[in-house]
Amino acid sequence: MIYPVYVFGSPILRKKAKEIEEGEEGLSELVENLFETMYASDGVGLAAPQVGISKRIFVIDASPMKEDDEALEGFKKAFINPYIIDQTGEKWPFNEGCLSIPTIREDVERPAEVEIEYYDENFNYHHETFSGIKARIIQHEYDHLEGVLFIDKISPLKKKLLKSKLMSISKGKVDVEYKIKFPG
Ligand code: CO
Repeated sequence: MIYPVYVFGSPILRKKAKEIEEGEEGLSELVENLFETMYASDGVGLAAPQVGISKRIFVIDASPMKEDDEALEGFKKAFINPYIIDQTGEKWPFNEGCLSIPTIREDVERPAEVEIEYYDENFNYHHETFSGIKARIIQHEYDHLEGVLFIDKISPLKKKLLKSKLMSISKGKVDVEYKIKFPG
């Protein structure tokens, strides 16, 4: 099932998402639907709050970015109840976009490495460190579970310049190829 994507201005994007319980009913369908929605909207990552579900889960498939880095081929994972333990390394800028903020892209600085604990779709525990674009996508999606958006991490001046564009998005006045749900 393909969900509509909630866009900027939706209160759920600003809420801290709740943990998932092991064996929770409908979890495998949720994982499946998140992947399906992500593929339908040409994203490389999608977090549950972006489809109106305030739960701590996001999915990633970075394969479409394999031209940037061949290690991204087959980097497909579900992260359940993730917890970032540490972020290390020098900050570097990367041009980010977000399905919830269509048509806007900005350079965002984040630390190079992320150490994270999470459970996969079978509720197996993992503790791993990621770097490069893998880390970048994880950091972006993780922020969604905390109610944080990438535009929170750009300079106040740049954000000011985006104000009218953001206002249009929150009113649904934006041209997108996928189904969106705008506030009100
Ligand atoms: Co996003």
